[in-house]
Amino acid sequence: MPPKDISEDGLTLKWPGLRWWPMHNEGFFICIEGLDKSGKTTQARLLERRLNSLGFKASYTTEPSQGEIGRFIRTHVLRGRKRIPAVAEALLFAIDRFDHAEREINPMLRQNVVVITDRYVYSSLAYQGAAGLDLQWIMEINKFAPIPDMAIYIDVPLGVLASRIKDYGSIMERMKIQRKAHSVYTRLVREGKLMPVDGNRSIEDVSRNILDLVLSRLRH
Ligand code: TYD
Repeated sequence: MPPKDISEDGLTLKWPGLRWWPMHNEGFFICIEGLDKSGKTTQARLLERRLNSLGFKASYTTEPSQGEIGRFIRTHVLRGRKRIPAVAEALLFAIDRFDHAEREINPMLRQNVVVITDRYVYSSLAYQGAAGLDLQWIMEINKFAPIPDMAIYIDVPLGVLASRIKDYGSIMERMKIQRKAHSVYTRLVREGKLMPVDGNRSIEDVSRNILDLVLSRLRH
């Protein structure tokens, strides 16, 4: 028997309209993306420190998150011997993202904090997309995630990264995976979804560049 329409009982159940990505009105949400060893963690941390010293309230956070699901991913997915199926990876990262948004990102944005996340949905597009998954489907399972105000991609040539990846910290750091993820990131840059920053310069030069870009939006 088909489920009874709730409105028949005089009750109308309205689902909130789902937008492609939910907007947020408070705070400022920045994500820093890049391949492994591109320097994004250093840059995200520096950005947090510099914004705070300029009087903004900025906070660094990361994905996989520090929550239980994020910790599960680090231990059982990234440090595992073999890659789990890409669909399972994408779903786990999406669940962690939901938890991350609920626990940390949204509450901080509501308090007008400048939230800087080290990796976000674009990492799922790059790494799980590189594993062959449909990018639209990855977006679909991440629909709940608040849309960033700025999404920055630290662009470092693959050859430079190869010399930095000496021992494989995680299963994602194999060059074949990095190469494929790089091509997805490049596509996202071309489509205007990520803002590229030349990462093949000194830490200080890259940091200044990112800070200038962010300040031009924050002081707008
Ligand atoms: P990374 O930033 O390298 O963390 P850490 O240096 O602390 O280990 O991220 C861990 C890996 O997780 C990285 O290789 C990319 C991968 N990843 C995905 O494959 N999909 C995702 O959605 C996210 C957030 C990360």
